[in-house]
Amino acid sequence: SAAPLIDAHDRAVRYVRLSVTDRCDLRCTYCMPRDQKFAPRHDLLSLEELDRLASLFVAHGVDRIRITGGEPLVRSDTLPLMRRLSRHLETGLSELLLTTNGTRLARHADDLAALGMRRVNVSLDSLDPNRFAAITRLGQLDTVLEGIAAAKAAGLRIKINMVVDGAHNADEVVDMVQWAHGEGHDIVLIEKMPMASGAADAEYLSLATVKERLAERWTLQPTERRTAGPSRYYRVKETGGDIGFIAPMSGNFCASCNRIRITANGRLYPCLGHDLYFDFRHLMRSGGDDTALAALIGKALRQKPAEHDFVAAISEQRPAVSRAMAVTGG
Ligand code: GTP
Ligand code: 5AD
Ligand code: SF4
Repeated sequence: SAAPLIDAHDRAVRYVRLSVTDRCDLRCTYCMPRDQKFAPRHDLLSLEELDRLASLFVAHGVDRIRITGGEPLVRSDTLPLMRRLSRHLETGLSELLLTTNGTRLARHADDLAALGMRRVNVSLDSLDPNRFAAITRLGQLDTVLEGIAAAKAAGLRIKINMVVDGAHNADEVVDMVQWAHGEGHDIVLIEKMPMASGAADAEYLSLATVKERLAERWTLQPTERRTAGPSRYYRVKETGGDIGFIAPMSGNFCASCNRIRITANGRLYPCLGHDLYFDFRHLMRSGGDDTALAALIGKALRQKPAEHDFVAAISEQRPAVSRAMAVTGG
């Protein structure tokens, strides 16, 4: 594939997180305010615009595209988009990925497998129906469990994403790991980041502490395994399964950052932890050709921040950025 994009800190950017909608059928407390305002439809990139932008990145050496939201499967043409992008799996893309809340997985799992997707990341913070309902505000646990079962039946490898929060679910980590490994899934524990929503009720819990507690119960063996993301994996000897840790605060991974994100309305955010963005929708809709788009990509790469400052934001009890996590889909 093409030579990678390189940023000002000498990091190769080969991974794009492409949000296709800012809408979601859930309202997880740490991700979206209850009264979230959504972008008007005409501000959303069309299927053709998403395809154009994604394909341009593939031509610039990007080898992984992760489709995100909001909840990507609430948009009606997400599957058609993924089907189109799957043509790059023959050439530039090594993986086409999806992060979902699972509510509509049962409906789409077979089609996702058929278009060449091999694994799926599903957000799930609790196995207790009442707690799940409280965290997601609108969700029903059974629907998500059915979605995960359907994805497994379709042959997809499943990774459960659990945002670990001292106030909500820290006492459930062991049960979650046991369930996930029993089902043959990977599980990834995530430190809650202080985005615009959720910062107020955040109870920050270091995953270093959680890992110590888990190590009292199980034998955690560090592995060399890496997925495309920031997760660091440990094998649990007793269960045979893997636990990943995404610890932006207690274990900053920005020095090896390989990614950018694009929002559903066509803004490129070079860093999850900063408000800086570059407007590709405006450029595309004012007739910008591929050379002009490539110039804007170059500009964004030159300005990609070295790292987030979530730690300072947490200690000052303020959000690090003015947008909700749902705007960039993580
Ligand atoms: P794979 O490793 O390919 O499975 O995916 P991933 O872990 O990169 O993606 P996923 O969508 O499952 O994200 C899991 C969590 O990691 C979410 O909470 C994201 O917000 C967080 N995350 C992903 N990329 C970054 C990043 O570049 N910086 C920070 N701080 N967090 C990230
Ligand atoms: N901090 C950390 N992770 C978050 N996610 C959503 N909001 C936050 C936050 N404030 C996670 C979701 C999903 C992934 C895309 O991002 O649980 O798994
Ligand atoms: Fe990259 Fe920013 Fe995430 Fe750090 S916080 S890993 S620099 S996107």
